[in-house]
Amino acid sequence: MSDKKKKRGTEDLPLLQKIVALCKRRGFVFPSSEIYGGLRSAYDYGPLGVELKRNVMAEWWRSTVHEREDVVGIDASIIMSPRVWEASGHVGGFSDPLVDCKTCKARFRADKAPAVAPGTEVTYRSQGKTIKGIATRGYVCPECGSIDLSEERAFNLMFKTHYGPIESDDAIVYLRPETAQAMFVNFLNVQQTYRLRLPFGIAQQGKSFRNEITVEHFIFRSCEFEQMEMEFFCEPETSDTWLEYWRTERLNWYINLGCREENLRTRPHEKDELAHYSKACYDIEYRYPWGWDELEGVANRTDYDLGRHQAASGKKLAYFDPQKINPETGKPGLRFLPHVIEPAAGATRAVLMFLLDAYDEEPPSEGRKDGRVVLRLDPRLAPIKVAVLPLVKKDTELTGKARDIVKTFWSSSINAFYDEKDAIGRRYARQDEAGTPFCLTVDGQTKTDDTVTIRYRDDMRQERIKVAEAVEIVKEKVTASRRS
Ligand code: GAP
Repeated sequence: MSDKKKKRGTEDLPLLQKIVALCKRRGFVFPSSEIYGGLRSAYDYGPLGVELKRNVMAEWWRSTVHEREDVVGIDASIIMSPRVWEASGHVGGFSDPLVDCKTCKARFRADKAPAVAPGTEVTYRSQGKTIKGIATRGYVCPECGSIDLSEERAFNLMFKTHYGPIESDDAIVYLRPETAQAMFVNFLNVQQTYRLRLPFGIAQQGKSFRNEITVEHFIFRSCEFEQMEMEFFCEPETSDTWLEYWRTERLNWYINLGCREENLRTRPHEKDELAHYSKACYDIEYRYPWGWDELEGVANRTDYDLGRHQAASGKKLAYFDPQKINPETGKPGLRFLPHVIEPAAGATRAVLMFLLDAYDEEPPSEGRKDGRVVLRLDPRLAPIKVAVLPLVKKDTELTGKARDIVKTFWSSSINAFYDEKDAIGRRYARQDEAGTPFCLTVDGQTKTDDTVTIRYRDDMRQERIKVAEAVEIVKEKVTASRRS
Protein backbone atom coordinates (compact mmCIF):
# COMPACT_ATOMS: atom_id res chain seq x y z
CA MET A 1 0.00 0.00 0.00
CA SER A 2 1.30 3.31 -0.97
CA ASP A 3 1.27 6.05 1.60
CA LYS A 4 0.87 6.79 5.25
CA LYS A 5 -1.37 9.77 4.88
CA LYS A 6 -4.25 10.06 7.25
CA LYS A 7 -7.26 8.93 5.28
CA ARG A 8 -10.25 7.89 7.26
CA GLY A 9 -13.90 8.81 6.90
CA THR A 10 -15.36 11.18 4.39
CA GLU A 11 -15.76 14.28 6.63
CA ASP A 12 -13.10 16.45 5.08
CA LEU A 13 -13.56 15.17 1.54
CA PRO A 14 -16.48 16.98 -0.12
CA LEU A 15 -16.16 15.15 -3.46
CA LEU A 16 -16.24 11.77 -1.76
CA GLN A 17 -19.26 12.88 0.27
CA LYS A 18 -21.03 13.87 -2.94
CA ILE A 19 -20.26 10.51 -4.52
CA VAL A 20 -21.54 8.63 -1.47
CA ALA A 21 -24.74 10.73 -1.55
CA LEU A 22 -25.20 10.27 -5.30
CA CYS A 23 -24.67 6.51 -4.96
CA LYS A 24 -27.39 6.33 -2.34
CA ARG A 25 -29.78 8.71 -4.13
CA ARG A 26 -29.57 7.05 -7.53
CA GLY A 27 -29.08 3.45 -6.46
CA PHE A 28 -25.43 2.75 -7.19
CA VAL A 29 -24.28 1.63 -3.74
CA PHE A 30 -26.11 1.24 -0.41
CA PRO A 31 -24.69 0.46 3.03
CA SER A 32 -25.23 -3.26 3.61
CA SER A 33 -27.96 -4.37 6.04
CA GLU A 34 -28.92 -0.72 6.42
CA ILE A 35 -32.23 -1.32 8.21
CA TYR A 36 -30.22 -3.01 11.00
CA GLY A 37 -27.80 -0.11 11.29
CA GLY A 38 -25.44 -1.38 8.60
CA LEU A 39 -22.33 -3.55 8.78
CA ARG A 40 -19.02 -1.69 8.93
CA SER A 41 -17.47 -1.50 5.48
CA ALA A 42 -19.97 -3.81 3.79
CA TYR A 43 -21.84 -2.46 0.77
CA ASP A 44 -24.59 -3.55 -1.58
CA TYR A 45 -24.62 -2.59 -5.24
CA GLY A 46 -28.01 -1.27 -6.32
CA PRO A 47 -29.65 -1.31 -9.78
CA LEU A 48 -27.16 1.16 -11.33
CA GLY A 49 -24.14 0.00 -9.32
CA VAL A 50 -24.47 -3.62 -10.36
CA GLU A 51 -24.57 -2.57 -14.03
CA LEU A 52 -21.53 -0.32 -13.65
CA LYS A 53 -19.53 -3.01 -11.85
CA ARG A 54 -20.50 -5.64 -14.42
CA ASN A 55 -19.51 -3.29 -17.25
CA VAL A 56 -16.11 -2.59 -15.68
CA MET A 57 -15.51 -6.31 -15.22
CA ALA A 58 -16.79 -7.15 -18.73
CA GLU A 59 -14.44 -4.58 -20.29
CA TRP A 60 -11.53 -6.09 -18.36
CA TRP A 61 -12.49 -9.61 -19.43
CA ARG A 62 -12.92 -8.56 -23.04
CA SER A 63 -9.56 -6.83 -23.29
CA THR A 64 -7.61 -9.28 -21.10
CA VAL A 65 -9.08 -12.61 -22.20
CA HIS A 66 -11.27 -12.42 -25.32
CA GLU A 67 -9.16 -10.08 -27.40
CA ARG A 68 -5.85 -11.82 -26.77
CA GLU A 69 -4.50 -15.11 -28.04
CA ASP A 70 -2.22 -15.56 -25.04
CA VAL A 71 -4.61 -15.32 -22.07
CA VAL A 72 -7.36 -17.72 -20.96
CA GLY A 73 -9.79 -17.49 -18.06
CA ILE A 74 -10.84 -19.63 -15.13
CA ASP A 75 -13.47 -19.37 -12.41
CA ALA A 76 -12.22 -21.19 -9.31
CA SER A 77 -13.71 -22.04 -5.95
CA ILE A 78 -13.58 -19.26 -3.35
CA ILE A 79 -12.88 -21.80 -0.63
CA MET A 80 -9.74 -23.76 -1.44
CA SER A 81 -7.75 -26.34 0.50
CA PRO A 82 -6.15 -24.63 3.53
CA ARG A 83 -2.86 -26.11 2.32
CA VAL A 84 -2.95 -23.58 -0.53
CA TRP A 85 -2.80 -20.72 1.96
CA GLU A 86 -0.12 -22.40 4.06
CA ALA A 87 2.07 -22.82 1.00
CA SER A 88 1.43 -19.34 -0.35
CA GLY A 89 2.56 -17.78 2.93
CA HIS A 90 -0.83 -16.30 3.78
CA VAL A 91 -1.43 -18.38 6.93
CA GLY A 92 1.96 -17.41 8.34
CA GLY A 93 2.41 -13.94 6.97
CA PHE A 94 -0.69 -12.23 5.64
CA SER A 95 -1.09 -9.91 8.56
CA ASP A 96 -1.22 -6.25 9.47
CA PRO A 97 0.39 -4.70 12.55
CA LEU A 98 -2.55 -3.87 14.84
CA VAL A 99 -2.29 -1.23 17.60
CA ASP A 100 -4.79 0.00 20.20
CA CYS A 101 -4.78 3.60 21.35
CA LYS A 102 -4.98 3.68 25.16
CA THR A 103 -6.26 7.26 25.10
CA CYS A 104 -9.23 7.15 22.71
CA LYS A 105 -9.50 3.33 22.25
CA ALA A 106 -9.16 3.56 18.47
CA ARG A 107 -7.78 0.42 16.82
CA PHE A 108 -5.58 1.05 13.81
CA ARG A 109 -2.84 -0.25 11.52
CA ALA A 110 0.63 0.91 12.53
CA ASP A 111 1.75 1.08 8.89
CA LYS A 112 -1.14 3.42 8.03
CA ALA A 113 -0.83 5.75 11.02
CA PRO A 114 0.47 9.32 10.62
CA ALA A 115 4.26 9.26 10.66
CA VAL A 116 6.03 11.29 13.36
CA ALA A 117 9.82 11.13 13.66
CA PRO A 118 10.96 9.49 16.94
CA GLY A 119 12.04 12.16 19.39
CA THR A 120 9.47 14.71 18.20
CA GLU A 121 7.44 16.42 20.93
CA VAL A 122 3.71 15.85 20.39
CA THR A 123 0.63 17.28 22.09
CA TYR A 124 -2.69 15.47 22.50
CA ARG A 125 -5.72 15.53 24.78
CA SER A 126 -6.62 12.83 27.27
CA GLN A 127 -9.49 13.00 29.81
CA GLY A 128 -9.85 16.73 29.25
CA LYS A 129 -6.15 17.42 29.85
CA THR A 130 -3.54 18.50 27.36
CA ILE A 131 -0.57 16.16 27.45
CA LYS A 132 2.88 16.67 25.97
CA GLY A 133 5.17 13.77 25.24
CA ILE A 134 7.95 12.49 23.04
CA ALA A 135 7.05 10.19 20.14
CA THR A 136 9.03 6.96 20.24
CA ARG A 137 7.25 4.72 17.73
CA GLY A 138 7.52 6.69 14.50
CA TYR A 139 3.74 7.20 14.45
CA VAL A 140 0.85 8.47 16.56
CA CYS A 141 -2.82 7.50 16.92
CA PRO A 142 -4.63 8.57 13.71
CA GLU A 143 -7.72 9.60 15.71
CA CYS A 144 -6.40 11.66 18.64
CA GLY A 145 -2.64 11.98 18.06
CA SER A 146 -1.80 10.11 21.28
CA ILE A 147 1.51 8.30 21.83
CA ASP A 148 0.03 6.15 24.61
CA LEU A 149 -0.27 3.01 22.49
CA SER A 150 -0.38 -0.78 22.94
CA GLU A 151 2.30 -3.05 21.50
CA GLU A 152 1.89 -3.98 17.82
CA ARG A 153 0.22 -7.36 17.27
CA ALA A 154 0.23 -9.28 13.99
CA PHE A 155 -3.39 -9.69 12.90
CA ASN A 156 -4.05 -12.23 10.13
CA LEU A 157 -6.41 -10.81 7.53
CA MET A 158 -7.95 -14.07 6.34
CA PHE A 159 -11.54 -14.87 7.29
CA LYS A 160 -11.76 -18.32 8.83
CA THR A 161 -14.66 -20.71 8.83
CA HIS A 162 -15.25 -24.44 9.14
CA TYR A 163 -15.86 -26.89 6.36
CA GLY A 164 -18.44 -29.54 7.25
CA PRO A 165 -20.43 -30.01 10.44
CA ILE A 166 -17.60 -30.26 12.99
CA GLU A 167 -16.04 -27.03 14.17
CA SER A 168 -12.63 -28.57 14.84
CA ASP A 169 -9.18 -27.26 13.94
CA ASP A 170 -8.96 -29.88 11.17
CA ALA A 171 -12.01 -28.34 9.52
CA ILE A 172 -10.67 -24.77 9.31
CA VAL A 173 -10.83 -23.24 5.85
CA TYR A 174 -10.37 -19.66 4.64
CA LEU A 175 -12.25 -17.35 2.33
CA ARG A 176 -9.71 -16.49 -0.33
CA PRO A 177 -7.90 -13.17 0.26
CA GLU A 178 -6.89 -12.97 -3.41
CA THR A 179 -7.99 -14.73 -6.58
CA ALA A 180 -4.38 -15.30 -7.68
CA GLN A 181 -3.60 -18.60 -5.97
CA ALA A 182 -6.13 -20.57 -8.03
CA MET A 183 -4.15 -19.67 -11.16
CA PHE A 184 -0.97 -21.08 -9.65
CA VAL A 185 -2.47 -24.33 -8.42
CA ASN A 186 -4.22 -24.81 -11.78
CA PHE A 187 -1.15 -23.85 -13.81
CA LEU A 188 -0.49 -27.29 -15.29
CA ASN A 189 -4.19 -28.20 -15.64
CA VAL A 190 -4.73 -25.17 -17.82
CA GLN A 191 -1.42 -25.33 -19.68
CA GLN A 192 -1.81 -28.97 -20.60
CA THR A 193 -5.52 -29.07 -21.45
CA TYR A 194 -5.21 -25.93 -23.55
CA ARG A 195 -1.77 -26.91 -24.94
CA LEU A 196 -0.41 -23.47 -24.14
CA ARG A 197 3.18 -22.42 -24.81
CA LEU A 198 4.98 -19.70 -22.87
CA PRO A 199 4.35 -16.86 -22.54
CA PHE A 200 0.68 -17.09 -21.56
CA GLY A 201 -1.66 -15.82 -18.90
CA ILE A 202 -4.49 -17.18 -16.75
CA ALA A 203 -7.10 -14.67 -15.66
CA GLN A 204 -9.82 -14.68 -13.06
CA GLN A 205 -12.34 -12.27 -11.61
CA GLY A 206 -14.33 -12.62 -8.44
CA LYS A 207 -14.82 -11.98 -4.78
CA SER A 208 -11.96 -11.83 -2.30
CA PHE A 209 -12.19 -11.30 1.43
CA ARG A 210 -9.88 -9.59 3.90
CA ASN A 211 -10.66 -8.84 7.52
CA GLU A 212 -9.30 -5.32 7.10
CA ILE A 213 -8.63 -3.44 10.33
CA THR A 214 -8.78 -0.05 8.70
CA VAL A 215 -11.76 0.27 6.43
CA GLU A 216 -11.73 3.55 4.69
CA HIS A 217 -13.21 5.76 2.08
CA PHE A 218 -16.41 4.05 1.11
CA ILE A 219 -15.77 1.14 -1.29
CA PHE A 220 -12.04 1.92 -1.66
CA ARG A 221 -11.18 -0.62 1.03
CA SER A 222 -13.81 -3.08 2.20
CA CYS A 223 -13.68 -6.53 3.74
CA GLU A 224 -15.48 -8.15 0.80
CA PHE A 225 -14.47 -6.89 -2.62
CA GLU A 226 -13.98 -8.03 -6.19
CA GLN A 227 -10.68 -8.52 -7.94
CA MET A 228 -9.61 -8.84 -11.57
CA GLU A 229 -6.27 -10.64 -11.65
CA MET A 230 -4.10 -12.22 -14.29
CA GLU A 231 -0.99 -14.34 -13.84
CA PHE A 232 1.23 -14.07 -16.90
CA PHE A 233 3.71 -16.97 -17.05
CA CYS A 234 6.91 -16.28 -18.96
CA GLU A 235 10.52 -17.34 -19.34
CA PRO A 236 12.56 -16.02 -16.38
CA GLU A 237 14.90 -13.93 -18.52
CA THR A 238 11.96 -12.09 -20.14
CA SER A 239 10.17 -11.11 -16.92
CA ASP A 240 11.55 -7.55 -16.69
CA THR A 241 10.34 -6.81 -20.21
CA TRP A 242 6.88 -8.25 -19.50
CA LEU A 243 6.61 -6.22 -16.31
CA GLU A 244 7.07 -3.02 -18.32
CA TYR A 245 4.67 -4.29 -20.99
CA TRP A 246 1.87 -4.99 -18.50
CA ARG A 247 2.43 -1.75 -16.63
CA THR A 248 1.80 0.16 -19.87
CA GLU A 249 -1.12 -2.05 -20.96
CA ARG A 250 -2.90 -1.66 -17.67
CA LEU A 251 -2.36 2.07 -17.41
CA ASN A 252 -3.72 2.51 -20.94
CA TRP A 253 -6.74 0.38 -20.11
CA TYR A 254 -7.96 2.99 -17.63
CA ILE A 255 -7.17 5.87 -19.96
CA ASN A 256 -8.93 4.17 -22.85
CA LEU A 257 -12.02 3.82 -20.68
CA GLY A 258 -12.13 7.54 -20.15
CA CYS A 259 -10.14 8.08 -16.97
CA ARG A 260 -8.28 11.39 -17.14
CA GLU A 261 -4.60 10.81 -17.77
CA GLU A 262 -3.49 13.52 -15.33
CA ASN A 263 -5.21 11.59 -12.53
CA LEU A 264 -3.19 8.42 -13.14
CA ARG A 265 0.43 7.51 -12.59
CA THR A 266 2.58 4.44 -12.02
CA ARG A 267 4.89 4.32 -9.05
CA PRO A 268 7.64 1.72 -8.55
CA HIS A 269 7.68 0.13 -5.09
CA GLU A 270 10.59 0.90 -2.82
CA LYS A 271 12.54 -2.22 -1.79
CA ASP A 272 11.03 -2.13 1.74
CA GLU A 273 7.47 -1.97 0.35
CA LEU A 274 7.74 -5.09 -1.79
CA ALA A 275 5.55 -8.05 -0.81
CA HIS A 276 7.43 -11.17 0.30
CA TYR A 277 6.81 -12.83 -3.09
CA SER A 278 7.73 -9.92 -5.28
CA LYS A 279 10.97 -8.93 -7.00
CA ALA A 280 9.63 -5.65 -8.42
CA CYS A 281 6.23 -4.00 -8.46
CA TYR A 282 4.46 -0.92 -9.78
CA ASP A 283 1.38 0.56 -8.25
CA ILE A 284 -0.96 2.14 -10.73
CA GLU A 285 -2.17 5.07 -8.67
CA TYR A 286 -5.13 7.39 -8.98
CA ARG A 287 -5.40 10.91 -7.58
CA TYR A 288 -8.28 10.29 -5.11
CA PRO A 289 -9.78 13.16 -3.08
CA TRP A 290 -7.35 12.19 -0.26
CA GLY A 291 -4.30 12.07 -2.55
CA TRP A 292 -2.48 9.56 -4.74
CA ASP A 293 -3.33 6.01 -3.75
CA GLU A 294 -3.35 2.51 -5.17
CA LEU A 295 -5.72 1.42 -7.90
CA GLU A 296 -3.91 -1.68 -9.13
CA GLY A 297 -0.60 -3.47 -8.57
CA VAL A 298 1.56 -4.93 -11.34
CA ALA A 299 4.12 -7.25 -9.74
CA ASN A 300 6.92 -9.54 -10.77
CA ARG A 301 6.20 -12.58 -8.57
CA THR A 302 9.12 -14.57 -10.00
CA ASP A 303 8.67 -18.37 -9.57
CA TYR A 304 7.87 -17.88 -5.89
CA ASP A 305 4.30 -19.24 -5.97
CA LEU A 306 4.87 -22.17 -8.32
CA GLY A 307 7.96 -23.06 -6.30
CA ARG A 308 6.08 -22.96 -3.00
CA HIS A 309 3.17 -25.05 -4.30
CA GLN A 310 5.51 -27.55 -5.90
CA ALA A 311 7.42 -27.99 -2.64
CA ALA A 312 4.30 -28.15 -0.44
CA SER A 313 2.20 -30.46 -2.64
CA GLY A 314 5.01 -32.69 -3.84
CA LYS A 315 3.59 -32.38 -7.38
CA LYS A 316 5.90 -31.24 -10.18
CA LEU A 317 4.71 -27.94 -11.61
CA ALA A 318 7.57 -27.37 -14.04
CA TYR A 319 6.92 -26.38 -17.62
CA PHE A 320 8.60 -28.45 -20.35
CA ASP A 321 10.12 -26.65 -23.31
CA PRO A 322 11.22 -29.15 -25.98
CA GLN A 323 13.27 -26.52 -27.84
CA LYS A 324 15.32 -25.14 -24.97
CA ILE A 325 18.77 -26.62 -24.47
CA ASN A 326 19.30 -28.30 -21.14
CA PRO A 327 22.65 -26.93 -19.91
CA GLU A 328 23.38 -30.14 -18.00
CA THR A 329 22.93 -32.54 -20.93
CA GLY A 330 23.58 -30.12 -23.80
CA LYS A 331 20.46 -31.56 -25.47
CA PRO A 332 17.11 -29.95 -26.35
CA GLY A 333 14.37 -30.31 -23.71
CA LEU A 334 14.34 -28.30 -20.49
CA ARG A 335 12.01 -28.32 -17.50
CA PHE A 336 11.78 -25.12 -15.47
CA LEU A 337 9.43 -23.02 -13.38
CA PRO A 338 8.19 -20.01 -15.33
CA HIS A 339 8.27 -16.57 -13.77
CA VAL A 340 5.07 -14.62 -13.31
CA ILE A 341 3.98 -11.04 -13.97
CA GLU A 342 0.73 -10.23 -12.19
CA PRO A 343 -1.53 -7.28 -12.97
CA ALA A 344 -3.89 -7.33 -9.94
CA ALA A 345 -6.79 -4.89 -10.09
CA GLY A 346 -9.72 -4.27 -7.77
CA ALA A 347 -13.06 -4.14 -9.58
CA THR A 348 -14.90 -2.43 -6.75
CA ARG A 349 -12.05 0.03 -6.30
CA ALA A 350 -12.16 0.73 -10.05
CA VAL A 351 -15.90 1.44 -9.74
CA LEU A 352 -15.14 4.13 -7.15
CA MET A 353 -12.38 5.56 -9.31
CA PHE A 354 -14.57 5.76 -12.42
CA LEU A 355 -17.35 7.44 -10.42
CA LEU A 356 -14.98 10.02 -8.96
CA ASP A 357 -13.36 10.71 -12.29
CA ALA A 358 -16.67 11.05 -14.15
CA TYR A 359 -18.39 13.29 -11.60
CA ASP A 360 -19.04 16.83 -12.81
CA GLU A 361 -21.17 19.77 -11.68
CA GLU A 362 -22.28 22.41 -14.12
CA PRO A 363 -23.42 25.73 -12.68
CA PRO A 364 -26.54 27.49 -14.02
CA SER A 365 -25.77 29.37 -17.21
CA GLU A 366 -27.36 31.80 -19.60
CA GLY A 367 -30.44 30.14 -21.00
CA ARG A 368 -30.42 27.42 -18.32
CA LYS A 369 -31.51 28.43 -14.88
CA ASP A 370 -30.67 25.16 -13.13
CA GLY A 371 -27.21 23.73 -12.78
CA ARG A 372 -26.77 20.00 -13.11
CA VAL A 373 -24.79 17.05 -11.84
CA VAL A 374 -23.55 14.80 -14.59
CA LEU A 375 -21.58 11.56 -14.58
CA ARG A 376 -19.44 11.63 -17.70
CA LEU A 377 -18.89 7.88 -17.77
CA ASP A 378 -17.56 6.32 -20.93
CA PRO A 379 -20.62 4.95 -22.76
CA ARG A 380 -19.20 1.43 -22.48
CA LEU A 381 -19.30 1.71 -18.69
CA ALA A 382 -22.59 3.58 -18.38
CA PRO A 383 -25.16 1.44 -16.53
CA ILE A 384 -27.95 2.51 -18.88
CA LYS A 385 -26.95 3.19 -22.47
CA VAL A 386 -30.10 4.92 -23.58
CA ALA A 387 -33.24 6.21 -21.89
CA VAL A 388 -36.42 6.34 -23.95
CA LEU A 389 -38.82 9.04 -22.80
CA PRO A 390 -42.33 9.65 -24.12
CA LEU A 391 -42.95 13.38 -23.84
CA VAL A 392 -46.53 12.98 -22.60
CA LYS A 393 -47.39 10.14 -20.25
CA LYS A 394 -51.11 10.23 -20.99
CA ASP A 395 -50.71 9.83 -24.75
CA THR A 396 -50.87 6.07 -25.17
CA GLU A 397 -49.73 6.24 -28.78
CA LEU A 398 -46.50 7.91 -27.60
CA THR A 399 -45.95 5.55 -24.67
CA GLY A 400 -46.63 2.56 -26.95
CA LYS A 401 -44.09 3.78 -29.51
CA ALA A 402 -41.53 4.48 -26.77
CA ARG A 403 -41.96 0.97 -25.36
CA ASP A 404 -41.52 -0.53 -28.84
CA ILE A 405 -38.28 1.43 -29.25
CA VAL A 406 -36.99 0.14 -25.90
CA LYS A 407 -37.64 -3.42 -27.08
CA THR A 408 -35.62 -2.91 -30.27
CA PHE A 409 -32.65 -1.93 -28.07
CA TRP A 410 -33.12 -4.95 -25.84
CA SER A 411 -33.15 -7.26 -28.81
CA SER A 412 -29.74 -5.82 -29.75
CA SER A 413 -28.45 -6.44 -26.19
CA ILE A 414 -28.34 -2.72 -25.39
CA ASN A 415 -29.52 -1.78 -21.92
CA ALA A 416 -32.32 0.70 -22.57
CA PHE A 417 -34.54 2.21 -19.89
CA TYR A 418 -38.12 3.41 -20.22
CA ASP A 419 -39.16 6.40 -18.10
CA GLU A 420 -42.44 8.33 -18.28
CA LYS A 421 -42.47 9.81 -14.75
CA ASP A 422 -42.20 13.59 -14.14
CA ALA A 423 -41.48 16.49 -16.46
CA ILE A 424 -38.97 15.88 -19.24
CA GLY A 425 -36.36 18.19 -17.61
CA ARG A 426 -36.38 16.16 -14.41
CA ARG A 427 -36.08 12.95 -16.38
CA TYR A 428 -33.03 14.30 -18.20
CA ALA A 429 -31.53 15.35 -14.86
CA ARG A 430 -32.01 11.83 -13.45
CA GLN A 431 -30.30 10.29 -16.47
CA ASP A 432 -27.41 12.80 -16.28
CA GLU A 433 -26.81 11.71 -12.70
CA ALA A 434 -26.99 8.08 -13.74
CA GLY A 435 -24.40 8.68 -16.46
CA THR A 436 -26.76 7.69 -19.31
CA PRO A 437 -25.07 8.97 -22.47
CA PHE A 438 -28.20 9.21 -24.66
CA CYS A 439 -31.86 10.04 -24.18
CA LEU A 440 -34.44 9.53 -26.91
CA THR A 441 -37.56 11.64 -26.62
CA VAL A 442 -40.70 10.43 -28.33
CA ASP A 443 -43.04 13.34 -29.13
CA GLY A 444 -45.90 14.44 -31.39
CA GLN A 445 -43.65 14.59 -34.45
CA THR A 446 -42.74 10.92 -33.95
CA LYS A 447 -46.33 10.03 -34.83
CA THR A 448 -46.09 11.66 -38.23
CA ASP A 449 -42.51 11.03 -39.40
CA ASP A 450 -41.10 8.26 -37.18
CA THR A 451 -38.27 10.40 -35.85
CA VAL A 452 -37.20 11.06 -32.26
CA THR A 453 -34.98 13.59 -30.53
CA ILE A 454 -31.63 12.27 -29.39
CA ARG A 455 -30.12 14.25 -26.51
CA TYR A 456 -26.43 13.90 -25.73
CA ARG A 457 -25.53 13.81 -22.05
CA ASP A 458 -22.21 15.61 -22.27
CA ASP A 459 -23.18 18.77 -24.13
CA MET A 460 -27.00 18.44 -24.00
CA ARG A 461 -27.11 18.88 -27.78
CA GLN A 462 -30.31 17.62 -29.36
CA GLU A 463 -30.98 16.43 -32.89
CA ARG A 464 -33.62 14.48 -34.76
CA ILE A 465 -32.89 10.97 -35.92
CA LYS A 466 -35.01 8.29 -37.56
CA VAL A 467 -36.42 5.66 -35.20
CA ALA A 468 -35.26 3.00 -37.65
CA GLU A 469 -31.64 4.19 -37.25
CA ALA A 470 -31.66 4.72 -33.48
CA VAL A 471 -30.21 1.34 -32.50
CA GLU A 472 -27.35 1.57 -35.00
CA ILE A 473 -26.52 5.14 -33.97
CA VAL A 474 -26.42 4.32 -30.25
CA LYS A 475 -24.58 1.04 -30.79
CA GLU A 476 -21.91 2.78 -32.85
CA LYS A 477 -21.39 5.46 -30.21
CA VAL A 478 -21.33 3.00 -27.32
CA THR A 479 -18.76 0.69 -28.84
CA ALA A 480 -16.52 3.32 -30.42
CA SER A 481 -13.37 3.44 -28.33
CA ARG A 482 -12.41 6.83 -26.93
CA ARG A 483 -8.99 6.65 -28.47
CA SER A 484 -9.79 5.37 -31.93
N1 GAP B 1 -2.73 -11.02 -5.90
C1 GAP B 1 -2.10 -9.81 -5.47
C2 GAP B 1 -2.99 -8.96 -4.71
O1 GAP B 1 -4.07 -9.35 -4.29
P1 GAP B 1 -3.16 -6.57 -3.66
O2 GAP B 1 -2.38 -5.32 -3.96
O3 GAP B 1 -3.28 -6.99 -2.24
O4 GAP B 1 -2.50 -7.71 -4.54
C3 GAP B 1 -4.80 -6.13 -5.65
O5 GAP B 1 -4.63 -6.41 -4.28
C4 GAP B 1 -5.88 -5.08 -5.82
O6 GAP B 1 -7.08 -5.52 -5.17
C5 GAP B 1 -5.56 -3.73 -5.16
O7 GAP B 1 -4.77 -2.93 -6.02
C6 GAP B 1 -6.94 -3.15 -4.98
O8 GAP B 1 -7.41 -2.58 -6.19
C7 GAP B 1 -7.77 -4.39 -4.67
N2 GAP B 1 -7.96 -4.53 -3.21
C8 GAP B 1 -7.11 -5.10 -2.33
N3 GAP B 1 -7.62 -5.06 -1.09
C9 GAP B 1 -8.83 -4.45 -1.19
C10 GAP B 1 -9.86 -4.12 -0.25
N4 GAP B 1 -9.77 -4.44 1.03
N5 GAP B 1 -10.97 -3.48 -0.73
C11 GAP B 1 -11.10 -3.17 -2.03
N6 GAP B 1 -10.17 -3.47 -2.95
C12 GAP B 1 -9.04 -4.10 -2.55
